[in-house]
Amino acid sequence: MKLWGGRFTEAEDALTEAFNESLSFDKRMYRQDINGSVAHAKMLGKQGIISMEDSEEIVNGLQGILRDIEEGKLLIGGDAEDIHSFIEAELTQRIGEAGKRLHTGRSRNDQVALDMKMYTRDNIDGMMKELQKLVDTFEKIINENKDTFMPGFTHLQKAQPTTLAHHMGAYKEMFLRDLGRLSDTRDRLNECPLGAGAFAGTTYPLDRDFTAKELLFRKPTDNSMDSVSDRDYLLEYLFDLSTIQMHLSRLSEEIIIWNSNEYQFVRISDAYSTGSSIMPQKKNPDIAELIRGKTGRVYGALQSLMVTMKGLPLAYNKDMQEDKEMAFDAMDTVTNSVILMNGMLSTMTWNKPRMEDSAKRGFTNATDVADYLVRKGVPFRTAHGIVGELVLLCEKKKCALDDLTVQEYREICDKIDEDIYEAISLDTCVRNRKTKGAPGEML
Ligand code: ARG
Repeated sequence: MKLWGGRFTEAEDALTEAFNESLSFDKRMYRQDINGSVAHAKMLGKQGIISMEDSEEIVNGLQGILRDIEEGKLLIGGDAEDIHSFIEAELTQRIGEAGKRLHTGRSRNDQVALDMKMYTRDNIDGMMKELQKLVDTFEKIINENKDTFMPGFTHLQKAQPTTLAHHMGAYKEMFLRDLGRLSDTRDRLNECPLGAGAFAGTTYPLDRDFTAKELLFRKPTDNSMDSVSDRDYLLEYLFDLSTIQMHLSRLSEEIIIWNSNEYQFVRISDAYSTGSSIMPQKKNPDIAELIRGKTGRVYGALQSLMVTMKGLPLAYNKDMQEDKEMAFDAMDTVTNSVILMNGMLSTMTWNKPRMEDSAKRGFTNATDVADYLVRKGVPFRTAHGIVGELVLLCEKKKCALDDLTVQEYREICDKIDEDIYEAISLDTCVRNRKTKGAPGEML
């Protein structure tokens, strides 16, 4: 049954119908649609636009539908075009005439704008909960590893020593910023479009403040044309999701490297790895790889909606129905990735001796030898050159800076004494990095 039957004389083409429908993917908004309709019906009754009896009948009918869907007694399907028509048809079938009064003073344009905003708002709330759990996991790892030494890298080359707490602390900062972005996005979207009608409002005395309040919005939107045309909030959320996924992807990349045979800094638990069908020895970091790999589709959702919106004249155009599938996919993908990353991180084994050993090799304390010379009065640029020579000598001797004798040191620079060893030990190198935000500050 079509909502617009009156004006049409020919049957719809089957492919047109399939191409046009959105029920198969917007059915997940049933709760938001029903809650929005309940608020609208209450308002219609309160304002005397429909009778109080009709209003109550509608509200009870809608609540019955919600209950039946959630208990699995009512399956969403059939030939309704979208979730809005499905619920309205079901209501009318259940309560008759009164059901036909629900859509008074409303259009599917403000209805879908409302549903999608509320769905996005709920999704943001869920996302923030999961991200907070991830931040808690980082906090735990940080607290347990303030003196777990490891090499820090630039250009994926060992650079200077740091701690696992410092490295994980960097990710904690990223996800805290993500949480902040989500909260900003939520706050900006929190204006209610219901009551905008098709785009020009209505002739009925709607109380938009009432429905906004009922649906927990800060206020009604200010311009009814913008209310049905705006998808900025979704673009903003898709950007937030893209950034979260990018952060997860960078962490996944590091986990994959650290889990490799060459590094062996970590061991991913069996629950988050898989085997190979041919090589019995293999345990692959598939989940980390998939989180990294799925970043593409999340960026794709953002890009896709940006392009969809770019040429649209005001107000509603059916193009905007395309905001859903990829956005839902991005929401699901990022939620699952955050949950899986949290599980993987909290069950991972850190090979601390291996990390510490690695921090001792690769001249990670070369900067500290230069700093030692600076403390003895040598200008930094000169010290840099001297340490370069020392490193060259070590490479020839295949040893670490710590292994040179004082004699060997002094042949290159006579400012070096017995106290060099203490000054460049891994422990000192990390502990003395006390600048605000540095690993030594956390110890
Ligand atoms: N399924 C549509 C969407 O997702 C609902 C709005 C339809 N409005 C209209 N005037 N055709 O955007």
